[in-house]
Amino acid sequence: MINWEELRHIHVIRKLQSMMSLWFQTDIFFVDERGQVRNYDSLDKNRDFKNPLSAVLLPREKGRELIFQHAAEMNEKVFRGDRPSFSEQGPVGCEQVVVSRIAVDQEFLGSVYAFCYTERAVSAEAREQAKATAVQLGFDPGLFDQAVSGLKILTVAEKKYFHELVDLVAQEIVAFHTEISKREERINALNSQLGTRYSYDSMIGKSKPMQDLYSLLDKIRASESTVLINGENGTGKELIARAIHFNSGRKDGQFVTVNCSAFNENLLDSELFGHIKGAFTGAIRDKKGLFEAADKGTLFLDEIGDMSPTMQVKLLRVLQEGTLIPVGGTEQRKVDVRVVAATNKDLKEMIELGTFREDLYYRINVINITVPALRDRKEDIPVLVDHFMARGCKEKGIELKSFAKRAMEKIYDYPWPGNIRELENEVERVLVLSGEEPRMPAELLSQRIRDWGESSKVQGVRVAGKLKDALEELEKTMIKEGLRRTNWNKSRLAKELGISRAGLIMKVDKYGLDKRKLARQGAA
Ligand SMILES: Nc1ncnc2c1ncn2[C@@H]1O[C@H](COP(=O)(O)OP(=O)(O)OP(=O)(O)O)[C@@H](O)[C@H]1O
Ligand SMILES: [Mg+2]
Repeated sequence: MINWEELRHIHVIRKLQSMMSLWFQTDIFFVDERGQVRNYDSLDKNRDFKNPLSAVLLPREKGRELIFQHAAEMNEKVFRGDRPSFSEQGPVGCEQVVVSRIAVDQEFLGSVYAFCYTERAVSAEAREQAKATAVQLGFDPGLFDQAVSGLKILTVAEKKYFHELVDLVAQEIVAFHTEISKREERINALNSQLGTRYSYDSMIGKSKPMQDLYSLLDKIRASESTVLINGENGTGKELIARAIHFNSGRKDGQFVTVNCSAFNENLLDSELFGHIKGAFTGAIRDKKGLFEAADKGTLFLDEIGDMSPTMQVKLLRVLQEGTLIPVGGTEQRKVDVRVVAATNKDLKEMIELGTFREDLYYRINVINITVPALRDRKEDIPVLVDHFMARGCKEKGIELKSFAKRAMEKIYDYPWPGNIRELENEVERVLVLSGEEPRMPAELLSQRIRDWGESSKVQGVRVAGKLKDALEELEKTMIKEGLRRTNWNKSRLAKELGISRAGLIMKVDKYGLDKRKLARQGAA
């Protein structure tokens, strides 16, 4: 649609209009695609019209109706007909109207409508017609006739020139519109390149890595390929898997999640592929597996790195053949499932160690999405904090709160080993603790965040993921720091830590913390 308001400000168009009214004493109208005259309000209703007939007609409602109605009919005619512009007798009877179509790429956007007067306008016949129109409208015929006498009469050559000018106005409008649309498209394109996109489904983030992620997700919307999502704990792997499903052609099917690390091998087997009654003790009836539940939908295999080698083989077969055999069954069943898998493990390394099948890896890693850790896109921290804060306050039905500046600095500096989940939990936690306080001070933050950067403390303790991993990390850090502090006096350190010397030596070995090794790494 054309921005008709803007046209008033376009120099070329204004110039053309005023030229036409000066030289030819005429008025020109812009009619939109629905037949509405769009530039009348911008004509001053009390102005003295150059065209004496306009001066009689336009200030009066009946006169306006006559002209605007005719303009709408001509608009329809230029829309339906095959001529892009034409001229014919006008509504009063003595004038010629020139109508020129406005269209961009076959799309009809309206027309330009203008009057002119030729020799015929002052003929006896035309004058009679004009007077008759005046009577019909309830106007004084004498006034009308007088107006006709004052009209500017165009020669044949001038009329041709006039027609060309009307066409030129229409072309200028098209040019203006095209230019504007192009510019808008360009601005939109730039906007998305520049990272003004703050979210994708329920994912938040405006950093470059997130922008790249969003455009990758856009690109794979139509794809049916398997996807492998790699990323640390709490980076949003599951959100991404959901976004993939709900933006795909399978969105009307089920999105089924299975956490591969939550089951032992046998259970996962029957969970995924189902079982036949009597397949094992407790299998009292046939049960469909998650693969079948996800038929025509998406199956999200979370923590795929934790799948046993036997299960990997079974999975590979389903992916290759699209069929499965339930536990205890003999017949193959067909399934139409798209698999999206996620892991925080390094599958490449697992392949080298022989714990993950290479052929399965290539089957699932058709499209790879690596989710950036929060510490690698710190510019997302403020938007995420705002988001979690707004959500939390809304849930509690309280006014929007905010963090004090120092608290925000602490939040920004902290390395967020638990990523977004950890940040999310922290915001919620502080919100609960803050009571009535609208501005939440740094003192309310968890100790590890408050103390981050203060050297004597152990830094960056993991708070999400496996407890075992976190404990090991802490153990390793404490021993490493302790060895340095005691100058490799293992007996003293063992005492301090409350473990036996032999126990300490074992752990030093396990974590590769002996003096020479550390010296080689340049860490001692
Ligand atoms: N970009 C994001 N915007 C808003 N919330 C997010 C974003 N990414 C993750 N979250 C939130 O963080 C939490 C963790 O996300 P999710 O469970 O998808 O991560 P994950 O990578 O699957 O974690 P894990 O490895 O621990 O299973 C969820 O509550 C999720 O809503
Ligand atoms: Mg997860």
